[in-house]
This record gives sequence, structure tokens and C-alpha cells, in this order.
Amino acid sequence: MPSPANRPPVAAAPSDAFSTCPDRRGTGAEKWDRYAGQSDNHGREIIPFWVADMDFRSPECVLEAIKRRTDHGVFGYTHDTPGFASALADHLKRRHNWKIEPSWVMGVPGVVNGLAVTARLLAAAGEGIASFTPVYPPFLFLPKLAGRQTVRVPLIAAYEEDRWLIDWDALEASLANPTTKLFWLCQPHNPTGTVFSREELMRLADLAEQHGVTVISDEILDHPAARRAITFVAASKTWNIAGLGCAAAIVPEEALRKNWRAAGGGLVPMINPLGYAASEAAWQEGDPWRQDLLHLLRRHRQMALEAVAGLPGIRCLAPQATYLFWIDCREWAAAQPPDRADPQQACEAAGIGPSDGRDFGSPGFLRLNLGCPTPRLAEGLRRLRQAFGTIGT
Ligand SMILES: Cc1ncc(COP(=O)(O)O)c(C=O)c1O
Repeated sequence: MPSPANRPPVAAAPSDAFSTCPDRRGTGAEKWDRYAGQSDNHGREIIPFWVADMDFRSPECVLEAIKRRTDHGVFGYTHDTPGFASALADHLKRRHNWKIEPSWVMGVPGVVNGLAVTARLLAAAGEGIASFTPVYPPFLFLPKLAGRQTVRVPLIAAYEEDRWLIDWDALEASLANPTTKLFWLCQPHNPTGTVFSREELMRLADLAEQHGVTVISDEILDHPAARRAITFVAASKTWNIAGLGCAAAIVPEEALRKNWRAAGGGLVPMINPLGYAASEAAWQEGDPWRQDLLHLLRRHRQMALEAVAGLPGIRCLAPQATYLFWIDCREWAAAQPPDRADPQQACEAAGIGPSDGRDFGSPGFLRLNLGCPTPRLAEGLRRLRQAFGTIGT
């Protein structure tokens, strides 16, 4: 995911690529179909701000790569293409100064699929997989689907420090439990947008090493434990190609790579050739577009912060990364009559469709996706203020 935090502000205007977006209705778009045919209390269409994909077209370099691949015309079974691992390795070296061996890279048909495989590869039935909560819903339900336990380590909302903090005692207690075998780290964290610091990552890695827990992460851990860690990355979120089903697992340990497909129990399909073509192009040529996107998302984050500031009973810790915006509505809810205290319902009645915090393990919270054209976001934020009672229709 893009990381808008900790970068100097960019003065240039965002490119036109983000102002005109195709209509996704009628294309099977999950995001838009959820509210199809429904209307809010004023008879308006509910604008979706939930699932984490963006409404923007992917950059030309990605579209051109897909066209080149379709011109080839043959779409048989395809394993990792010759340029896939090296395009990723070059990208990671350029962007993060992370040097990986291309031989560590394995294409996977999605990060969720990869996580599900690690549950079976590295934990036995009944053993535990820990994660910081609130968290992206599959972190909560995948362990159970694999017959493993979900171990929740709640993050602390430190409003006075303006960030989410790790509860180190709770983390250590979870990792010290001999049945905990894996820690699934979401970095940057979804839904809070937290970027864990190097110090936090090192301390987490130390604890994991000490208690024999493997960390499954999407960011480098420059630490001995990283030899055992598995890292998932994908071009999908940043370049808006999630529907192409292509991600990569970086697995330094050869034995784990060998056992991967078997651990999937027949449920790991091959990647489609267009996913490879698009990912390679995004990693190799997509950086100028990504920079423009970051510029836009910084503005959108600012707009969202301004919209929620001063809303009674509504709080938010500014995300440091991602296009996701996590809103704490618990005080607002406590002040409402019980039949009107559900923030998700209040939003939908006002014509805005966020993700419901309950799905992330946190009732009373909402997640807004800011990856849409600016005028649509402005209208959504106007409706958000309406939902929480500060402006009329
Ligand atoms: C943290 C995180 N991991 C994984 C995914 C989904 O990845 P994939 O589509 O590759 O399965 C998402 C999508 O929102 C996500 O936010």
C-alpha cells in the first residue's frame, strides 16, 4: 500500500489520472454492487467507501503491459514469469533498499491465500496465530477456517500521543504461550494506517525469536528472525490491480518454499498471466504514477481529518500510511438512543457506505476508503458530517 506519511509535502497538482474515473457499476465491482439499488433516507444513491480498492484506472504502463500480453493471445497455465522475481527485487531495492534473492520469491494468487497457507505450513491444528487488533478481517477468521486459534493482541489508541501503540505486556504474554506459533503482522496496519517503527519491529522480532514464533509480515525485518519470516507483497493495492489476483511471498527458507503447495491442500491455484504482466510493469515503471497518487492521498487524508475534527463524540488518529481512515465513533454511539446508536447505519442512512468496525473486531468504529476522486470524497465527507448530526441535508 502507498505510504503517504513522513514525506515532504509535494506542491504539484495531482495528475488528471485521478480526476476522471470510469463508472464501475455493472462490472461486477464488489465495492459498487454492495449498495446497488439501495438509497439513503433522502432517496440518494449510497456512495461506497468500504472495500480497499480504488476507483482510479491503473497507470498506462500497466494497461500497456496487459495489452501486450493479450496480443500474444495464448493464456495457458503459467508459472512465475522470467521477469517477475527480478522486477520485484529491483523495486524493493530501489524503494526500500531491501536486497532479496530473486530465488526467495514465489508468486501467490493473493495475500489472503498466502496467509491461509502459512497457517497450515507453520502451525498445527489447535495452535495459535496472533495479530494486533483491530485488523483486516481475514486475520481474524482465517485461523479458525484452518482449525487454528486466533490470538488477539489489542493495539492501544493513545490519543494524547496521536498514534496507536503496541501493548508490549499483552504481546509478550501471547507470544510466550507455547501454543502460539505465528504472528501475522500487518505493516502498514489495516485499518489504523499505523506504520510500526523500526524500534517496534525490532522489539517484536526479538520477542518472536525468543519464543520461537514465526513472523509473517509485509515489511523487512532486518533481524535474525527475518530468516524465518515470510513477507507478502503485491502491486495490487498501490496500482489498483487487486482483481488480477497476483501477489508475491518472499520466503528465504527453501524448505518452506518446497512445502508451500502441499500445505495449501489443493487450494492454491496458479496465477493468471495478466496478473504477472501487470505486476511486473507496475514494479518496473509505475513509480511516477505512485508519486502522483501519494500526493493526492495526502490531500485526501487532510480533507478527512478536517471533516471529522469537531464532530461530537468522533475521534480519529491520523493514519501514517494507506488510503484507509479509521474513525472512533464510540463516544458518539454512547450518547445516542439505543435504536440510533449504530454508526454504520447512521452513515448508510446519510448516503455513505464505510466498512463496519465490527468486521475488524471493533464495534463502534468505521473505516473510510479515501481512494476515489476528490469531488466524490468531498461529497462523502459532507454526508459523514450529516450522519453525525452537524449539518442538514
Ligand atoms: C492487509 C491486507 N492484506 C491482504 C489484503 C488482500 O490481499 P489479496 O487481495 O492479495 O488477497 C488486503 C486487502 O484489503 C489487505 O488490506
